[in-house]
Amino acid sequence: MALQDAANLLGPARHVVVFTGAGISAESGVPTFRDALTGLWSRFDAQALATPQAFDDDPDLVWGWYEWRRRLVQRVRPNQGHLAVARLATHVPRLTVITQNVDDLHERAGSPAVTHLHGSLFTPRCASCARPAPVPESTGEQPDEGRRVAPPHCRHCAGLIRPGVVWFGEALPEDALESAVQAATECDVLLTVGTSALVYPAAEIPRVAGRFGAAVIQVNPQPTPLDPIAEVNLAGPAAEILPALVTATWPGFS
Ligand code: APR
Repeated sequence: MALQDAANLLGPARHVVVFTGAGISAESGVPTFRDALTGLWSRFDAQALATPQAFDDDPDLVWGWYEWRRRLVQRVRPNQGHLAVARLATHVPRLTVITQNVDDLHERAGSPAVTHLHGSLFTPRCASCARPAPVPESTGEQPDEGRRVAPPHCRHCAGLIRPGVVWFGEALPEDALESAVQAATECDVLLTVGTSALVYPAAEIPRVAGRFGAAVIQVNPQPTPLDPIAEVNLAGPAAEILPALVTATWPGFS
């Protein structure tokens, strides 16, 4: 059956890449982008919030929206899916965690070195001189979506501080993309979890792994364009499937 098939692939693997999308954080209470009804892009306009032009046009709206997302992430906790990914590191000789997510839930679950292809809510920087800026102190108040918040100014050049995420139309961080592609070409197994695999170049990573001979295992309750290249499709929620997969692969370990 599919879980055991996946365990048979994962057990002997020397180098495993885990490639995650918003779906792995869904069960922590962080909304995905494209799920019907709850997805962020069915409730908000990506063009007005997630492009460089949007920030130029209305920095307070954009900064306020990302502050809302950051405070929301700070109020939730990693789920059993993130924790299972972190546990993989104790079983697999070499583990590379690559995420499209801008939350810090993999890190808070114990994954030490996470490659963020789309940046992070926790690395704001100056929009003018690109110097890193401190993450604003959390006031602990209930985050309220849609509230305009004026972004802080850079201590060095007084430019506006922007979220440290990759917006539509922007290039991905070169070092992150290069190391992700490198890992995809070298790994034996790529475990893709909770991504619709629609946004490039990130969505190329599982396909590169497949082309270089890795076995692709997919964890997603819905079909995705990766179905045809996945050797095993585990249809279900990550917080349930991933712990079961780790236990099936290494029975007897906690
Ligand atoms: N467990 C696993 N997968 C889940 C779960 C869950 N509990 N809940 C939802 N999913 C799946 C959905 O079926 C969907 O395929 O997670 C996927 C989420 O897809 P998207 O919302 O498109 O998120 P993602 O693939 O990460 O988007 C990629 O698009 O907007 C940009 O920059 C943004 O990084 C993001 C990129």
